[in-house]
Amino acid sequence: MPFHSSISISPTITAYFWKNSETLEDLFDQVLLKDSSIKRLEGMQSIEHKKGFLGVRMLVQHIGFTDFDLVYDATGKPHLETNNTITSTKIKHISISHSHEFSSICVSTDEIIGVDLEKVKEKVLRIAPRFMDVTHLEDLSIEKQTKKATVIWGVKEAIFKIKNEVGISFPDHISEDSFTLEDKSGSAHLHFNSIHESFSFQFYEIESFIFVCAKPK
Ligand SMILES: CC(C)(COP(=O)(O)OP(=O)(O)OC[C@H]1O[C@@H](n2cnc3c(N)ncnc32)[C@H](O)[C@@H]1OP(=O)(O)O)[C@@H](O)C(=O)NCCC(=O)NCCS
Repeated sequence: MPFHSSISISPTITAYFWKNSETLEDLFDQVLLKDSSIKRLEGMQSIEHKKGFLGVRMLVQHIGFTDFDLVYDATGKPHLETNNTITSTKIKHISISHSHEFSSICVSTDEIIGVDLEKVKEKVLRIAPRFMDVTHLEDLSIEKQTKKATVIWGVKEAIFKIKNEVGISFPDHISEDSFTLEDKSGSAHLHFNSIHESFSFQFYEIESFIFVCAKPK
């Protein structure tokens, strides 16, 4: 299956998902890549990683851009150069995540956004004490603990992608307010370098994955 789905997160924010079930060759034949991207692709070790990278380019083409419009700053943060394209667009921000067979991009016409896509795996519970307040998992079944810890990991990754500052620690600097899986949304805070910032987030289940989108409050 190629294009999987899109989610309208708000009137100005949309997420798109590609399920990379084509062969690597099929994907490669369908995207237009600049030389630096071909070089990057060649340097990737796993087929899954290569497909994830090409799936992102398929989504970029799906929304009317090409790999030539997707640029990265020195930290690896992606940006869409909207001047280069003939597509009339108001897109200001893009955030990217890939996990196993899924690629996702999320675009916004106003606020900055950060996204994370993560496969739900029970082993997240083993590392949970290293990145979150595990009291937020109390009184839940193992299945729900696993999903909630995956959401919280995704929230922290998404906020990191928004702020993109060296030194941010997930357990020490990013905290989430209480929420339930049924809420499908919540709030989180970054306390870093004497600055306090708040973020809202929404999360979705996509097959066996959790997708989180965060934005500043
Ligand atoms: C950069 C980072 C956020 C990527 O996340 P990931 O879960 O490994 O991978 P994802 O698939 O979700 O995201 C990868 C995409 O993030 C984007 N990205 C990379 N660096 C970024 C940055 N500095 N800021 C914003 N976005 C970034 C890129 O688009 C990348 O995909 P692409 O290069 O193929 O286009 C992550 O590696 C990282 O450094 N996290 C913070 C470090 C940390 O504190 N970790 C654990 C502490 S307990």
